[in-house]
Amino acid sequence: MIEFQHISKAFDGKKVLDGVSGKFEQGKVNLIIGESGTGKSVLIKCIVGLIRPDQGSIAFDGRDFLNGSKDRTVGVRKEIGMLFQGGALFDSKNVEENVLFPLDMLTDMPQDAKLDRVNFCLQRVGLSNANKKMPNELSGGMQKRVGVARAIVNNSKYLFCDEPTSGLDAKTGLLIDELIQELTYEYDIATIVVTHDMDSIVSIGDYILFLHQGRKTWEGASADIFHVDVEALKDFLFASKLMRMAKPQA
Ligand SMILES: Nc1ncnc2c1ncn2[C@@H]1O[C@H](COP(=O)(O)OP(=O)(O)O)[C@@H](O)[C@H]1O
Ligand SMILES: [Mg+2]
Repeated sequence: MIEFQHISKAFDGKKVLDGVSGKFEQGKVNLIIGESGTGKSVLIKCIVGLIRPDQGSIAFDGRDFLNGSKDRTVGVRKEIGMLFQGGALFDSKNVEENVLFPLDMLTDMPQDAKLDRVNFCLQRVGLSNANKKMPNELSGGMQKRVGVARAIVNNSKYLFCDEPTSGLDAKTGLLIDELIQELTYEYDIATIVVTHDMDSIVSIGDYILFLHQGRKTWEGASADIFHVDVEALKDFLFASKLMRMAKPQA
C-alpha cells in the first residue's frame, strides 16, 4: 500500500498541490481524475520521486520514501513501474530493447533470463513476435502495450500510468484499460492511473481520487461517483461526457 499525507508543491510561488493525502492499495486500480492542469501529473511525479514535494510524507508499504536511507529509496524505485504520458518509447530501440531497458538498468540478471522475462511480458500484453519491430512500425495501441510490458517487466509492485489512453480511439483505449486492470488483479499490483477519460472512469477504477485546483475534493468508490453532490466533480463529469461524445469511435 502506498500512503501519502499532506503533499504540497509550488512552482515559482504558485501552489499546484495543496495538502493532498490518500492511499493506494495493492490489487486495486486507483484513479486520479481531474481537469487538465489540476496537478495530477505533478502528484504522481511527487509520489514516485521525480519531483520533491515542499511538504508531506510518502510511504510504500510502510517504507518512508522521502526521508528514508538511499538504499531504501533505491529499493522502492526498483519496485515501481511507470507508463508515461504519451507512451515514451525509445524510438531508436526496438520493442525487445525497450522492454529490456529496466532489467538492464535495475538488475544483474543473466541475459537469457532477461530475455525470457521480456518474452513472457510481451506475450502477456499480446505482442509475441514483435521483438524486432521498431516503435514507428507499431500502431498507437501496440506502442502502449510495449509501454505496459516495460512497466511490469521488473515484477513491479506499484504501477503508475499517466493518461494511458490518451491519443487512442475509444475501443483501443478500452483494451488498454482492461489490460492494466487484469495485470493489477493478476499480480496484486497497487496501480495508479491518471486520467480524464470518461470511458476509463466508468470501466476501471476501484478507488477514485478527484483533484480540483490542487486539492483532493472527493474520494471514493467508482460506483458512487455519479451520485455525489460536489459541484466541481459534477462539472468535471459533465465536461468529460461531452468530450467522450466528441471522441472518435473505432
Ligand atoms: N516542472 C514544472 N515547473 C513549473 N510548473 C509546472 C511544472 N510541472 C507542472 N507545472 C504546472 O503545474 C500545474 C499542474 O500540472 P500537471 O500536474 O501537469 O497537470 P495535469 O493535472 O494536467 O496533469 C500546471 O499549471 C503546470 O503548468
Ligand atoms: Mg498530466
